[in-house]
Amino acid sequence: MAGKTTEVSKTKANSRDLLTLIDPLCEGTIRDAILESFPHHDFLGEEDVPPGREASARAIDAKLKNLLATPPPPPPPSPSSSSSSSSSSPPSRRKKYLWIVDPIDGTTNFVNGIPLCMPSIAVADETGEVVVGVVRDPHRDETFAAARGRGATMNGVAIRCAPPGGRGGGNDDDGGLSLGDAVVAMGSPPATESMAMSLRALPALMPRVRTIRMLGSAAVMLAWVANGRLSAYWEYDLSSWDVAAGSILIEEAGGRITDLEGERWNLRTRKICGSVGGKVHGEILDTLAEAGVV
Ligand code: IPD
Ligand code: CA
Repeated sequence: MAGKTTEVSKTKANSRDLLTLIDPLCEGTIRDAILESFPHHDFLGEEDVPPGREASARAIDAKLKNLLATPPPPPPPSPSSSSSSSSSSPPSRRKKYLWIVDPIDGTTNFVNGIPLCMPSIAVADETGEVVVGVVRDPHRDETFAAARGRGATMNGVAIRCAPPGGRGGGNDDDGGLSLGDAVVAMGSPPATESMAMSLRALPALMPRVRTIRMLGSAAVMLAWVANGRLSAYWEYDLSSWDVAAGSILIEEAGGRITDLEGERWNLRTRKICGSVGGKVHGEILDTLAEAGVV
């Protein structure tokens, strides 16, 4: 029985994008627990959304439009009084909080028995700002948690992004982590365009940093940036549920998370770079831009 649980039940966008029987079961368990305690909150889970970039962008967009602080667009004038369908709920039914859940981030690792796969859970408030994030790593018994303005922790102990001088190696004159000392992780994404961009980035980035890691769970890589194991994580195309929890972990641990142009990450951002901050963040973005990763 044990072996059966990780069998691939189907592929999603392509043969590299896997789904097991367990992914939707985990999501259902998480959703039931959340909605039992918070029946008036909204919920977005990876397994509720059809595969592919467009569908996941549409899904977060629809949920953000349903949050309280975003006024709904005025209804189009209707010739009849009968109500037409709309993607926005009427104000009275709109939600104040949105839970964003990836039940198993790192499904390929899960299928292969690689112990880097875990749930990633976040809450956004009525402005669309992520206010709570949790990444629970059962393999190492590590729970990463952050609340906006209240810091980030691992197993209840405060965490910070890597020390300003990095871990061993020559520091920059200004005391910041230099690109040459950075330990950078990146995705090995399933989609063709993202893969092409990752391949384009590698020859540019690899000689300039200490090392590159591709370990297959964006959620835990972002948590590892937050607790200083990694200097940075970047990926060309990720969905809200991959990044939401990690984004607040990094910001509350003193780091920075942006799109590839340096704009602060938000729930609609798909090209991401999270890092210890400082000048190494800009240097990674510059390197990617020079390599044509845009
Ligand atoms: C994937 C992981 C992986 C990243 C992919 C994601 P999933 O999520 O985060 O590290 O490179 O782009 O889709 O499918 O395992 O939940
Ligand atoms: Ca994921």
